[in-house]
Amino acid sequence: MTKVLEHSTDFSLVQGLLAKDTGFEMLASSFADLPLDPYIQGDFRYRCYSNVKIEAGHIRRQPTKTFMQPSHINQYLGDVERQYQEIPEQTLTGAAMSSMLKDFKDQCALSDDAVIEIHQIRIKTQSRNATPPAPEGVHQDGFNYLGIYVIGTQTVEGGEVMLYEAKDEAPFFCERFADGQYVILNDARYFHNAAPVLPLPGQDQGYWDVVVLTAHAG
Ligand SMILES: [Fe+2]
Repeated sequence: MTKVLEHSTDFSLVQGLLAKDTGFEMLASSFADLPLDPYIQGDFRYRCYSNVKIEAGHIRRQPTKTFMQPSHINQYLGDVERQYQEIPEQTLTGAAMSSMLKDFKDQCALSDDAVIEIHQIRIKTQSRNATPPAPEGVHQDGFNYLGIYVIGTQTVEGGEVMLYEAKDEAPFFCERFADGQYVILNDARYFHNAAPVLPLPGQDQGYWDVVVLTAHAG
């Protein structure tokens, strides 16, 4: 199900909900195997990263490259070359990830040559500490298209996805996503952030699992 909020040749944003009957559980459970993100202080972020093209309907893994954002995009880890483990084949080509990638390609009208970058991220939160999913705060990722897919939330509160017209304005969109809920947006037009997550009262820890897709136009 996809609900189009505003969609034209000047792409704005769309939001929707992933189907839960096509390997969604396998994708959700794969977050438990993500390795710790070594580029961040503390042990609250776990992450894999892969690049793919979708050629004639087939997902083709692209050579691993380092991931780097300029410091004007990421004031927290700008100009730092980062290398992450690849997303395992079983997850990458599973039914849920496949349909997510193909839908993203269609929504963004990407060509077969376009590279889609995939970040699979788990935010772990403990001891009632508020953990920010994006330590850099309100930001853009430096692409044309950005997809934020919340895959699973386990005993956490917070994590609202927030979108902004400008960095120093209040968000025009602030919503706590259900499992499978997503938004695809024009990353050059909007800024984004996610509210801190923390364990539900009475819980020692919780998880907030998200897939982030990015692509340049083309
Ligand atoms: Fe981001």
